[in-house]
Amino acid sequence: MPCPALPEGFDFTDPDLYQSRVPLPEFAQLRRTAPVWWNAQPHGIAGFDDDGYWVVTRHEDVKEVSTKPDIFSAHLNTSIIRFHPSMTRDQIDVQKLIMLNMDPPEHTRVRQIVQRGFTPRAIRALEDALRDRAAKIVAEARRRGSGDFVTDIACELPLQAIAELIGIPQDDRARIFDWSNKMIAYDDPELAITEEVGTNAAMELISYAMNLAADRKECPAKDIVSRLVAAEDEGNLGSDEFGFFVLLLAVAGNETTRNAITHGMHAFLTHPEQWELYKRERPDTAAEEIVRWATPVVSFQRTATRDTTLGGARIAKGQRVGIFYSSANNDPEVFDHPESFDITRDPNPHLGFGGGGPHFCLGKSLAVLEINLIFQAIADAMPDISLTGAPRRLRSAWLNGVKELRVQYG
Ligand code: HEM
Repeated sequence: MPCPALPEGFDFTDPDLYQSRVPLPEFAQLRRTAPVWWNAQPHGIAGFDDDGYWVVTRHEDVKEVSTKPDIFSAHLNTSIIRFHPSMTRDQIDVQKLIMLNMDPPEHTRVRQIVQRGFTPRAIRALEDALRDRAAKIVAEARRRGSGDFVTDIACELPLQAIAELIGIPQDDRARIFDWSNKMIAYDDPELAITEEVGTNAAMELISYAMNLAADRKECPAKDIVSRLVAAEDEGNLGSDEFGFFVLLLAVAGNETTRNAITHGMHAFLTHPEQWELYKRERPDTAAEEIVRWATPVVSFQRTATRDTTLGGARIAKGQRVGIFYSSANNDPEVFDHPESFDITRDPNPHLGFGGGGPHFCLGKSLAVLEINLIFQAIADAMPDISLTGAPRRLRSAWLNGVKELRVQYG
């Protein structure tokens, strides 16, 4: 196999790279030449005591890593592929309290409990409230005439959806939104969120959620908090576990859905024939293609629990393995013309919500519902929406983020 011709020092988790683009041509090169490739890094730059990680680029291999938690652990070094270099090992280890960073059997126990809040019935029950919210958000933006699509439209529904799901009282929502926003912006200096501000916001959110859980334990209501923490039997979350779960929801459910919506809007506005088709036919297949196209989470990681082989590479016990959903979702072995934005694509076995293993996105149905509701509201109320500027991208090591998208609301 020929070697990939990447510039010296190239790093598939370099936040400066993602500030300008997702490295799709480089992924394509790896898929062809070295589908599982060792990416050397200066020692400790990602917050870990090592010198690099494997880049897994093919759809098939991303699925294999995702579905074998006994060989590829989400716990040993967490699922986050790159932390700030100043992060200490103790700070990384605290993140292991979050479900995303657990392995079976601990993960299985927590997941079984929290799943109760995400049944098809529970999600359907939110639909009317969220449809109303989507219409209000769009109407409000329209009154402004023009503005930033990210703050006016894309941010709002995901925040409301999580608050609605958890049953956060209306008066507390502004605080929850503020904490959530502060927690996810640490890599981008322009947002001026220091590590400390981010950590404090996380602590405040956890403590808010723990108090909510304690209240509901005393005095159960008909909401998901009560269902997850009610004290009658063993299969429940402790108040602290609930606190970390809410923290995970705030991170996993906000930035991801916000970026799917923003990239989706940008894709429609730069592929006008798809927007016309959407407005006319509203195909059910659109939301999945928006997520494939956007792939908001570029990568997560696992750590090998033993020596193993993958896609022809020999992986040693303890090495980190990056699963690159962005690459898998553009693998031509699986997708015809992956470079085309095609809202009628069917089947669409994209891995934007994960590779099908135990950590597969818990909020997928909610995310698809939100994407459908917001684009329906936009198509109804502002069919002539148009771009007035290029997207300004977020500086992040593993999120495909847009922080500003100027539009005319039509
Ligand atoms: C378009 C929007 C979204 C995308 C692209 C997305 C993507 C992902 C991905 C890639 C994973 C990891 C899968 C794996 O490791 O195999 C994940 C896990 C998760 N997601 Fe999402 N997500 C989205 C929306 C949401 C929403 C709306 C929620 C909840 C309100 C949510 C909650 C979670 C949780 C709790 C996990 C961890 C599951 C576990 O560890 O068992 N996500 N998501």
